Amino acid sequence: MKLTLRDTLNYPLIILLAGSTLTAPAFAQEASPRYKKGMVVCAYPDAAQAGLSVLKKGGNAVDAAVAVQFALAVTLPQAGNIGGGGFMVYRSSNGQTATLDYREKAPGKATTDMYLDANGKVIPQKSLYTHQAAGVPGSVDGMIEAHKKYGKLKWADVVQPSIDLAAKGFKVTERLANDLNRNQEQFTRLNNGGTNYFARTTPWKAGDLLVLKDLANTLTLIRDKGRAGFYSGKVAQQIITEMKRGDGLISQADLDNYHSVWRKPITGQYKQYKVITMPPPSSGGIALLQLLHSVEPYPLSRWGHNQDSTVQLIVEAERRVYADRSKYLGDPDFFKVPTDSLLRPAYIESRMKNFTWAAATPSSTIQPGSFAGYESDQTTHFSIVDAQGNAVSITTTLNGSFGNKIFVSGAGFLLNNEMDDFSSKPGVPNMYGLVGGKANSIQPGKRMLSSMTPTILEKDGKLFMVVGTPGGSTIITSVFQTILNVLEFGQDAQQAVTSKRFHHQWLPDEVAPEINAFTNDVTTKLQQKGYKIVPRGSIGRVDAIVVTPQGYLMGGADPRGDDTKSGW
Ligand code: DON
Repeated sequence: MKLTLRDTLNYPLIILLAGSTLTAPAFAQEASPRYKKGMVVCAYPDAAQAGLSVLKKGGNAVDAAVAVQFALAVTLPQAGNIGGGGFMVYRSSNGQTATLDYREKAPGKATTDMYLDANGKVIPQKSLYTHQAAGVPGSVDGMIEAHKKYGKLKWADVVQPSIDLAAKGFKVTERLANDLNRNQEQFTRLNNGGTNYFARTTPWKAGDLLVLKDLANTLTLIRDKGRAGFYSGKVAQQIITEMKRGDGLISQADLDNYHSVWRKPITGQYKQYKVITMPPPSSGGIALLQLLHSVEPYPLSRWGHNQDSTVQLIVEAERRVYADRSKYLGDPDFFKVPTDSLLRPAYIESRMKNFTWAAATPSSTIQPGSFAGYESDQTTHFSIVDAQGNAVSITTTLNGSFGNKIFVSGAGFLLNNEMDDFSSKPGVPNMYGLVGGKANSIQPGKRMLSSMTPTILEKDGKLFMVVGTPGGSTIITSVFQTILNVLEFGQDAQQAVTSKRFHHQWLPDEVAPEINAFTNDVTTKLQQKGYKIVPRGSIGRVDAIVVTPQGYLMGGADPRGDDTKSGW
């Protein structure tokens, strides 16, 4: 629909009039199997099976999550990992919530200028495809802590499925085969002197068996020795030897000092839904709540999914929120993040004040906001719900696809290139085009800022939705739009995940829709208002679970990947 000036001026009135229609639309029905006892939605079929098998053995959502994290380290080497890190958002069946930050940390020898040359210029790719691109891995410690606090089954039983997959092998999907083939040259070049576990004389194809013996041995040590199986002993030594081979920085002291952190979730309200999400060092939770609050006063469900007014409003909110992200978000252990100020309703309203329907607000005129009292000073997601209704939302990553593409020789796993998530130099974009400054500068032991947004929603005090996605800077906008698809546009879990998405991140000043996300008419209307539309390939791989009022678990597995929903 075309929005008139009257609509703009009267939007508070619209809310008043439309009060009843602003509640969630009638629950969309989904013609797929209905499960009540548990569900795993994740990015690889065998990993979903591993999680489901743990649920069927009587494991809870956290037991299944540990099994899936390790299984994805085998079957989804692009992103699943033990050499990376991640975030978990947890909600127990009785409503207790927690988040676990197992994000990588900068090694003790890291320095603010480590990616700059003598002239102060960023050295291309140094933060991406070198041993120095790797942060100290957090995933193993994270899984141990999560299991220690909430797990029900024995540790060995939740690690075992991943050992079986690595030792006996698993079938490669077409997508994985293509990804492995595409990276052969880099795997070979970057592991010169080390081992390339994916090397093949003939190209990989769908159905091939991938066996990872060294990784199976590493996972066995983790199964038998817990933390000591990774952060000390043989595997730690292998990591340090690998660092020496390539001038890397991670030391035994870094491994000893790595500990994941339980953090208080970021929570907020959107209409009748409570949103429970990840605090810093993710920017995702704060940004998601800022976005939801920015659009809350407007009649989105009346405008409709991906209609011009909807897109315009969402883009303008995203532009402002990403500008704030560039200045105010960083590791809270090193930088005072002004969370309360960023989430204050009056502040969010003030940010939207200069938005006008007539034309796009150029990003050049938008700066990070200011508020009184402020002292300056290929990833993967999985969603799990168990029979009791405990829920886990985990996003975990190596950062780029296959991380820095460097194996820890002898240990069979890839290292992350998460250091690129720091701001190498103020104002210089990272691989996702994100800019930052002091808040996210490199310091020894600091965690790099993330966009990962594992999220759980409740309605009327009950579990309603578990959601998250990979996608670098697009994570926040994908989670935001998927939530709106369910809450505002009446889409079921699968539709909400499948629906076309679009992205704006302040800089560059462009709207990036997936192909066919907008009709020609919508594109033209937006262009006439000055929006630069730059279509792009697929955005994210959202995996979500929505609980129906009858207590059924409805899964949304992203068709953009090999994502699978398994329930019982
Ligand atoms: O933590 C972050 O925000 C990034 N390292 C995530 C990278 C990612 O999602 C890549 N996957 N497509």
